[in-house]
Amino acid sequence: MEHYVKCREELLKFIDENNCAPIMVRLAWHDSGNFDKRISSWPECGGANGSIIHEPEISYGANAGLTKAVNFLKPFKQKYAAVSWADLIQMASACAIQVTGGPILPMKYGRVDVKDGSACPGRTSRGTADNAGLPDAMAPFGCGAKQPATHLRNIFHRMGFDDEGIVALSGAHTLGRAFQERSGVVENGYGDAKVQGMGFFGTAEASPYTKSGCPVRHDGKAGFGMPGGKAWTSNWLTFDNSYFQFLKRSKDENLLWLPTDAALHEDPQFKVYFDRFADSKDAFFDAYSKAHTKLSELGSKFEPAGGTFNEVVEQGGKRTVEAALRCKTGELNYCRLTMEKVTTEPNGMLTQMLLLMPQDLD
Ligand code: HEM
Repeated sequence: MEHYVKCREELLKFIDENNCAPIMVRLAWHDSGNFDKRISSWPECGGANGSIIHEPEISYGANAGLTKAVNFLKPFKQKYAAVSWADLIQMASACAIQVTGGPILPMKYGRVDVKDGSACPGRTSRGTADNAGLPDAMAPFGCGAKQPATHLRNIFHRMGFDDEGIVALSGAHTLGRAFQERSGVVENGYGDAKVQGMGFFGTAEASPYTKSGCPVRHDGKAGFGMPGGKAWTSNWLTFDNSYFQFLKRSKDENLLWLPTDAALHEDPQFKVYFDRFADSKDAFFDAYSKAHTKLSELGSKFEPAGGTFNEVVEQGGKRTVEAALRCKTGELNYCRLTMEKVTTEPNGMLTQMLLLMPQDLD
């Protein structure tokens, strides 16, 4: 268990120092997002199994730019060989949510990696025109749908998510940016100025929210890595519910809003959740935590079946611990434990695992 704790600790520091949280979240989501619940065999069902590091998957159009994220993780994989790629990718994403001010996610580790690229799901294997069933941000939609809301439901129902899960997960766009060189959905490219040639395609300069020097970190510290691109929120290195403030803020041409984002407040069923998350950060964090944890385990094969390391994390005051404990039946139970004394190492990392019997949890 020790290497998981150490790896997690170093990832938190690395992601914070390098301001690379958004791309880590996108990498993990794209590894999971080709899961197909209709397929019962592993690894054919896809999901969080590390296949994204291999060719051909890493070169699918939807994954443009994600080699950078895989390269960020290579030194961690070298140092902590016992942590599988599938675990490392999901751990980095959970750390990214945490360091940007989001919830501490109840994660479970012990995922088995696919052997090699032969396990990558084919581009059209999920019934979409490309990208092994990852969503498109605008028409033409690869699943054949005419409307973005129908497209979102087609794609996310295949993974097992309902409307609430779809809206909650879309809130991950509170972080990060889109680039001309990657998805091509915006004109803004890499860097402050518009640059063309040698792999740079940007035909517009960085927005006021993505140019060098603008403050976007949740702790107000300076710096954010590479300038450029266009973001959904003005504080795109802060995980909060500002993505859902779209209807409450005045129109801003410098922020990104794609047809699949608009579907979340234009479709009446989605809008119920969109409004709820706009009104309450707590409601968003709660729904996001559940959906993200589920996403991180889609299609994963755990060895042993219950996982090697289930995190018990400290949140808020020193004495209150929010925990997700997995029962022997496989169910995840969320609970809040108030303890007399928490045993920690000098750096404050919680080291004592509390094991409760399922009958002790309500
Ligand atoms: C709902 C359907 C979704 C669509 C159509 C979509 C589309 C996109 C697009 C076009 C980009 C820009 C990529 C680029 O040019 O670099 C992007 C970035 C991103 N996506 Fe999504 N996405 C969806 C769902 C999700 C989900 C479920 C998550 C995570 C739970 C997620 C997390 C992110 C993050 C964090 C970025 C920013 C990456 C960066 O700044 O490097 N997305 N998405």
